[in-house]
Amino acid sequence: MRAKITLLPGDGSGPEVLAASRKVLAAVAEAFDHAFEMQEYLIGGCAIDEWGTALPDDSLAACLEADAVLLGAVGGPKWDDPLAKVRPEQGLLGLRKQLGLFANLRPVKPHPALLDASPLRIEILNQVDLVVVRELTGGIYFGEPRHRVQLNGEEQAVDTMTYTESEVRRVAHLAFQLSRERKGKVTSVDKANVLECSRLWRQTVTAVAQQYPDVELELLLVDAAAMHLLTRPSTFDVMLTGNLFGDILTDEASVLSGSMGNLASASIGETRNRLDMPRGLYEPIHGSAPDIAGMGIANPIGMIMSAAMLLRHSLGLEAEARAVESAVNTAIADGERTPDLGGTHTTESITEKIIENLAKSIPDR
Ligand code: IPM
Ligand code: MG
Repeated sequence: MRAKITLLPGDGSGPEVLAASRKVLAAVAEAFDHAFEMQEYLIGGCAIDEWGTALPDDSLAACLEADAVLLGAVGGPKWDDPLAKVRPEQGLLGLRKQLGLFANLRPVKPHPALLDASPLRIEILNQVDLVVVRELTGGIYFGEPRHRVQLNGEEQAVDTMTYTESEVRRVAHLAFQLSRERKGKVTSVDKANVLECSRLWRQTVTAVAQQYPDVELELLLVDAAAMHLLTRPSTFDVMLTGNLFGDILTDEASVLSGSMGNLASASIGETRNRLDMPRGLYEPIHGSAPDIAGMGIANPIGMIMSAAMLLRHSLGLEAEARAVESAVNTAIADGERTPDLGGTHTTESITEKIIENLAKSIPDR
């Protein structure tokens, strides 16, 4: 297969983990006889430094042309001035919006060998296998107006949360369909006791659920969901959330997996690529980790697992995706760890182990 993959290393430790993922994809291409055309473009803070914008036109064009996009991370203290007009995060948010990536899938399935890396007790972590489906192009992240105004002699800041029925409906359908391939349960998360947006959310999800009588629907308020995620995480299958709640809950959920560095994500929408598969953006859920950037010790697993999701969801290469996942799982089972999980591996050395495992697991062709 020939595929075009646009790479966006971004900021902080983004480029380090992306380089790891690129090596893994190159190894997959070689082992399975594919031609992946991979080219890197700027996004985020580095793009601001170079071009004064977080999402340069050529980066966006390359993403629109690609069969899939792989991204490291954006942001860092250098660009954190609250008064700055351009911010690295605008690059990522703009890209999600421009590519129409309304659903963000964040699977959480702790590896058995990492249960003791989580601060939670093992009995709570056993059998955890959930995926958060986070709405990604609506809600308070994009609602208008958003600005600062002078009000009664002081500054007031305004953000707006909006949801339309159709925005909720399309992501809800995706969540229900996904749950059919899994455990058949959707937990919808909102704040319907306070927010009008959440009441529309709940009403719309409940209506969509009628079309999936075989799927169990659970409705939870976000504050309770945050608690249940720590007290009974194994009872969840698909957690369906709005943009802001999903952002918060997935950082919390990453604790179940032992390290934020382990979690991958896929953002998909309705548009399809040349292979007639969903065009997607794949990124680890962790940020740019400025505290360890440049040290070569960032955990690349979330990034490499994101590449596996890319192979599966945007290129339709299931066997290749599984080969990558099993190479990663074997490395974890063998006790290979970066410092975030108490080990001494560098980003490069654990990546080498993963690539060795990949080579071993692929049958001779
Ligand atoms: C995430 C990140 C982003 C978000 C930031 C970097 C804009 O936290 O993907 O979870 O809030 O969506
Ligand atoms: Mg986040």
